[in-house]
Amino acid sequence: MALSHLLLYTLFIFSIIISIQSSSSSSEDTPITRFQQYLRFITTHPNPNYTAPISFLLNQAQTIGLTTRTIEIVSNKPILLLTWLGSNPNIPSILFNSHLDSVPAESDKWIHPPFSAHRTINGNIYARGAQDDKCIGVQYLEAIRNLKSRGFVPLRTIHISYVPEEEIGGFDGMMKFADSSEFRDLNLGFAMDEGQANPGDEFRVFYADRTPWELVIKAKGAPGHGAKLYDNSAMENLMKSVELISKFRETQFDFVKAGRFANSEVISVNPVYLKGGTVTSSGFVMNMQPSEAEAGYDLRLPPMTDPDVMRKRIDEEWAPSIRNMTYTVKEKGMLRDHLGRPLMTPTNDSNPWWSIFKQAVEATGAKLAKPEILASTTDSRFIRNLGIPVLGFSPMSNTPILLHDHNEFLEDTVFMKGIEVYESVISALSSFEGVSGQVI
Ligand SMILES: *[C@@H]1O[C@H](CO)[C@@H](O)[C@H](O)[C@H]1NC(C)=O
Ligand SMILES: *[C@@H]1O[C@H](CO)[C@@H](O)[C@H](O)[C@H]1NC(C)=O
Ligand SMILES: *[C@@H]1O[C@H](CO)[C@@H](O)[C@H](O)[C@H]1NC(C)=O
Ligand SMILES: [Zn+2]
Repeated sequence: MALSHLLLYTLFIFSIIISIQSSSSSSEDTPITRFQQYLRFITTHPNPNYTAPISFLLNQAQTIGLTTRTIEIVSNKPILLLTWLGSNPNIPSILFNSHLDSVPAESDKWIHPPFSAHRTINGNIYARGAQDDKCIGVQYLEAIRNLKSRGFVPLRTIHISYVPEEEIGGFDGMMKFADSSEFRDLNLGFAMDEGQANPGDEFRVFYADRTPWELVIKAKGAPGHGAKLYDNSAMENLMKSVELISKFRETQFDFVKAGRFANSEVISVNPVYLKGGTVTSSGFVMNMQPSEAEAGYDLRLPPMTDPDVMRKRIDEEWAPSIRNMTYTVKEKGMLRDHLGRPLMTPTNDSNPWWSIFKQAVEATGAKLAKPEILASTTDSRFIRNLGIPVLGFSPMSNTPILLHDHNEFLEDTVFMKGIEVYESVISALSSFEGVSGQVI
C-alpha cells in the first residue's frame, strides 16, 4: 500500500516536471502562444510600427490557407485584408474587423511588463492589447483554422480586416478604408467589430456608438475695473452659459441615476476647460474684468439624438449671439447614415443577422447581455455609416474591464472560449442564405 502510494506520488511529480517543461518550451505552437506572440509586437501610439505584426498575421493566414491583401491608403499605415472565399461569392459577404494599434502603457505601473505577454499560473495573460483588441484579431484566425480543419465550407465570403490608427480616431485607418473602392468591392452584408469585457458572466454586445462633439463657447464683453458692478461682462456672459449647460447635464444624469437610461443612452456634456482672465508674467491681474472668456466641452450623443435640435440648443441657448457669444462645434462623426436613419444596428427580429448571431452565441452555452450603446467610439461607426449592420463584440465574460488601464490582461480559458464562440458565429453567419426580397 505504502509502495503504491509512493509510486503514484513519483508519477505525479514526473507529470508535473513534464508539464512544466512543455509549457516553458519555446517551440510550442498553440492558440495561446500565437496570442502571446501577437501581443509582443509593440504597436502603441504615438509611433506604432505595423510591419512586424502584419508579417506575423500574413504568415498565419498563409498557413491557414486564406488569401491576403495589404492595402496602403496612407503610407506606413497598412490595412491587412484576409479572405476565405464562399461557395457563393455573389451574395453579400461578412467582415470581422480589429485594429492593430494600442494606447501606450506606463511599464513601471504594471506588475508584468506590458509587452511580455506573461502568463501567470492562474492563466492570466498580461499585455497591452490583451483586451483591446488583439484577442479578437487572433480569435478570428483560430476559429477559421478550426473550421477549415473540420472541412467546413462557407456559403458567403468571409473577410477579416486589421486596420491601423483606431486609437487615435481611425481617420487614417477605417475611415479612409470604408470610403475606398476596395471596401465597396467587398459587397458587405454584415460586419463585426470590437466590444468590451464584462465582470459578470454574460457577453456584452454593442449596436451603436455615441458620437463625440467638441464644443468651444466664447464670450466677449466690455472690460472694466475689478471693483465695478456692471452688466454683460465676458465672464458674466460665459457663466450664464456654463449654468445652463450644467443644468442640462444634471437633467441627463438624473435619468441615469433614476435607472431610466444607461450612461451611454443619454447625452453627456462634460466641461474640460475654462479659459479667462488677463495674464501677465506675474500671474492673473486681479483688479480687471477681462474682455474675453471661453469654455470647452466634451459632448457624446447617442444615435437617437436629433442633431438639428442639439445644434439649435447650442446656437440659441448655450452660446447665443444676443449675449455676444460665439462657438465652434467639431462633430467627430455622424448621427445619421447615408439614408438619414439613426446610426444603429437593430437588435430585434427585423435584423436576421442579429437573430443568427444571438443563436450562434447561445449554442455554445454562453449568455448574451442586453444589447448596449457603447459610451465611447470604435471603427464600427464608419461601417454603420454606409448602412451596413455592425455588432461590437469581444467575448470576454468574468473579466474586469481593463482597456486602456494598467495591468490589462485576459485569462487563457476566456480566450479559448472566445475561439469556440467565433467558430459558432462565423459558421452560422457565413451559412445564412438570405431572405428573398430583402437586400442583406
Ligand atoms: C518597422 O519595423 C521594421 C522591423 O520590424 C523595420 O525594418 C522598419 O524600419 C520599421 N519602420 C519604421 C518606420 O520605423
Ligand atoms: C454685446 O456687445 C455690444 C457691443 O459691444 C454691447 O452694446 C451689448 O451690450 C452686448 N450685449 C451683451 C448681452 O453682452
Ligand atoms: C426593431 O428595432 C428598431 C429600432 O432599432 C425599430 O425601429 C423597429 O420597429 C423594431 N422592429 C421590430 C419588428 O420590433
Ligand atoms: Zn479597441
